[in-house]
Amino acid sequence: MRTLRHAKISSVVKIESIRPIKALSGGLELPGDKSISHRYAMLAALADGTSEFRNFAAARDCHSTLGCIKSLGADVKVDGTTVKITGHGLRGLRSSWRTLDAENSGTTIRLLSGILSGQTFATKISGDASLQKRPMKRVMTPLREMGADIRGRDENFPPLEIRGGKLHGIHYQMPMASAQVKSALLLAGLYAEGETSVTEPAATRDHTEIALREFDAPVSPKGRTVSIQGLSGHNGNPALRPVLADVPGDLSSAVFFIAAASLLPESNLYIANVGLNPTRSAILDLFNEMGASVSVVNLQTRHGELVGDLAVKGAQLRGGLVSGDRVALLIDELPMLAALGPFTELGIEIRDAGELRVKESDRIAALAENLKRMGATVEERPDGLRVEGRTARKLHGAEIDPRGDHRIAMAFAVAGLTTTGETRILDAECAGVSYPEFFAELRRLGE
Ligand code: S3P
Repeated sequence: MRTLRHAKISSVVKIESIRPIKALSGGLELPGDKSISHRYAMLAALADGTSEFRNFAAARDCHSTLGCIKSLGADVKVDGTTVKITGHGLRGLRSSWRTLDAENSGTTIRLLSGILSGQTFATKISGDASLQKRPMKRVMTPLREMGADIRGRDENFPPLEIRGGKLHGIHYQMPMASAQVKSALLLAGLYAEGETSVTEPAATRDHTEIALREFDAPVSPKGRTVSIQGLSGHNGNPALRPVLADVPGDLSSAVFFIAAASLLPESNLYIANVGLNPTRSAILDLFNEMGASVSVVNLQTRHGELVGDLAVKGAQLRGGLVSGDRVALLIDELPMLAALGPFTELGIEIRDAGELRVKESDRIAALAENLKRMGATVEERPDGLRVEGRTARKLHGAEIDPRGDHRIAMAFAVAGLTTTGETRILDAECAGVSYPEFFAELRRLGE
């Protein structure tokens, strides 16, 4: 790794240099799942007693959540990847005099908005420049309907000011498929009078539902609708119980290594202890449909979540189309898929994925720009893109600007393993938002 020091702005920018390699081989264990870690941390902060999580996510995003719940009065002890959180009950949070900092994490600000809506105090929450551009109206509208007073910049953007109040349950028909919106409402539902139910237009990850059940909350999923009974007015047993759990490895991080091993014909990779929840594993079906060699072993259920090991070998990838309801199940994997496009036989086409424009970066624009820098043929569309396959041109290494987006940085590091010449990933540290050890692991397995 090289470090460039810019005299004028006195900041340090890390650049990762990627060169072609022949194979990716060996064993890998991934940091804990980011989505699950966020939910465990937040629910532990509302539980009565001490929860303990092993293999808690190393992701910077999840540590932003830990920072926020600490400011709200939960006791948080981090020892490597073991995290102990002591909550003081559903009503045990206290107001924070400073603005909560969700940094780069959309999950932190949106899910916490639900919890903060149920408190008797007011909270300000914001984040970095990228987060301040991300839409919050999607949670503000239904949370207001439940009785919360939430204000944001231009009625849509952080900083948010949330004045909790007496909430009442609603039935909400979500206009978009978003696990974050669904989760914010279910968490607010814990504090609401009566039942809160949410119907989603297409299935999204269900870690909140699973985690709520683990903590003993009265949640009941039925098809596309999930309901929760408010605990606030409950006289019987209103507490969430603390949980002791191992967090499964993050499949969305595994995907970069599955892609890399698939691209390099002599690869032989074993990834242990990966979360394989069916609302996340559509990517494995897609890889196999495209001709990849990915097999699942040692499948088991832990704390309601499916977990297993993956064996991956090099293969010829056919490519294909991702559209419709499948998009929500593959949302975080689309950057890697698009960056694989030029190395597949037929190319990759993504439709119905306008949501990609409001992620950590405008991912459609970032993918199109950086793929073109490598010499790929790309058509950018409002709701997706079409990347030409192998019959197009041979790709070359390039300087990649990930626009501060972890998944763009990692996707192009993988692409750079099979192009000719050197690929330089600018601002490579942004990978730490989900996977701080990504480049070190890539180097280790590529040796
Ligand atoms: C997440 C949900 C998805 C995903 C994000 C994590 C979650 O966002 O893109 O990385 O943990 O709930 P949306 O719910 O906005 O689609």
